Amino acid sequence: MKGTIVKCLEELIRKNFGDDKWKAVLAAEGIDDARVFSTMEDVPDGTVVEMIGKAAAVLGISKEAAMEAFGMHWSKTYAPRVYGVFFEKAKSAREFLLSLDGVHDTVTRRMENARPPRFVYDDAQPERLVMRYDSPRGLVALMPGLVKGVGALYGEQIDVALAGNEVRIHFNSAASRRAA
Ligand code: HEM
Repeated sequence: MKGTIVKCLEELIRKNFGDDKWKAVLAAEGIDDARVFSTMEDVPDGTVVEMIGKAAAVLGISKEAAMEAFGMHWSKTYAPRVYGVFFEKAKSAREFLLSLDGVHDTVTRRMENARPPRFVYDDAQPERLVMRYDSPRGLVALMPGLVKGVGALYGEQIDVALAGNEVRIHFNSAASRRAA
């Protein structure tokens, strides 16, 4: 998986918990604590998943809480800064989520070795959205945090539930919109 995922995890831990915690995560994973990751490098999928687990252990939180924190940081802080143009195009969380399959396709098309997740949508009802996650990596558990982060970014109240590979999203209100 692309190093950009690890960079986001690193930023989350360094900023909120301190450099020593990040070094502890690297050490727990058997990686030199001076290792610098780049956004475009390839990091083995297993290493990325393990690092989230190690981060949970180092921070003394559950793996689910670590995945949620990662997802929130990615969608609310890291991705809007690094890939801002895609968020500016969408005026609501729903609009952004509906663009996400295309966003992954566009962003990774020029990246060698990238295999982004794909999404198939059911958007028949205006207050609901179902995203069917499709990836051989099986990281659907990352989806709730990522989706909640999108809601937080757009200032919207949304609920997210998982049913297998289906991500069921309910939009509670048309609260303040980021682009408004
Ligand atoms: C502009 C925003 C985003 C960009 C540019 C982006 C880009 C990427 C990239 C480059 C990867 C690594 C792919 C690879 O190494 O093959 C990735 C993985 C992933 N992305 Fe995004 N992403 C964005 C937002 C989101 C959001 C909001 C979600 C969910 C709601 C999401 C879900 C995922 C998941 C679950 C993975 C893990 C890989 C997998 O399951 O196969 N992404 N994304």
